[in-house]
Amino acid sequence: MNKIIVSLLLTLGITGFAHAAGDAAAGQAKTAVCGACHGPDGNSMAPNFPKLAGQGETYLKKQLHDIKSGKRQVLEMTGMLTNLSDQDIADIAAYFASQKGSVGAADPKVVAHGEELFRGGKLDQGMPACTGCHSPNGAGNAAAGFPHLGGQHAAYIAKQLTAFREGERTNDGDTMVMRSIAAKLSNKDIEAVSSYIQGLH
Ligand code: HEC
Ligand code: HEC
Repeated sequence: MNKIIVSLLLTLGITGFAHAAGDAAAGQAKTAVCGACHGPDGNSMAPNFPKLAGQGETYLKKQLHDIKSGKRQVLEMTGMLTNLSDQDIADIAAYFASQKGSVGAADPKVVAHGEELFRGGKLDQGMPACTGCHSPNGAGNAAAGFPHLGGQHAAYIAKQLTAFREGERTNDGDTMVMRSIAAKLSNKDIEAVSSYIQGLH
């Protein structure tokens, strides 16, 4: 009996996964409109437009569904995802995940404080180190959906941390993981850790 249920669940799970699996080549053909802001290979030039190249597929898929549904508001992308199917989103996520992300440089004036926060957190305030989820080199944890941060534009990172802190970005789940972490960061902390992340690889 138990064996039957287990194998039924496995079959369902595998079918569900196969359905949502992305095809990077098909995805590339669906990204013409995205390139203007995010760069054709996902390495955007403008600091307010996030790099998507090398970002984890699971994280990308989640963000695209959240942006499409309005759970995460991105005014610049209004209406752009409306006509995309779940398969289109999976393909696009697979394409950007397969590209190589570029890396920037940290500001030497704030890098030491940024590194301290990223690697050590603020233990006296109960704030964990970023490395625990985003990994020491900033690569994140693709399977868990923890985003890759290393090399991302500092201006974009700072905007997200501020948005989590102010409660303007609320799609970090019921655990409010990033909202509770960002609540412990001052503007100076955000500037330093964002700059550190921009140079991290
Ligand atoms: C007019 C510019 C513009 C276009 C075109 C655009 N985006 Fe965006 N996108 C943005 C901006 C700006 C943000 C970040 C908003 C913020 O600060 O939260 C963003 C955020 C994202 C994110 C979240 C990234 C992260 O690290 O969380 C994804 C994924 C994304 N866009 C994918 C796409 C895809 C796929 C397309 C094409 C179908 C597209 N975008 C088209 C401007 C654009
Ligand atoms: C317990 C795990 C955990 C820790 C510790 C953590 N994060 Fe996160 N972080 C996440 C998750 C999960 C998300 C994705 C939320 C979502 O789905 O929108 C995220 C998202 C982010 C984003 C948004 C990325 C993007 O592309 O938009 C930034 C920036 C970020 N974290 C920075 C940090 C910094 C800086 C620290 C340390 C001060 C930190 N995080 C600590 C789990 C964590």
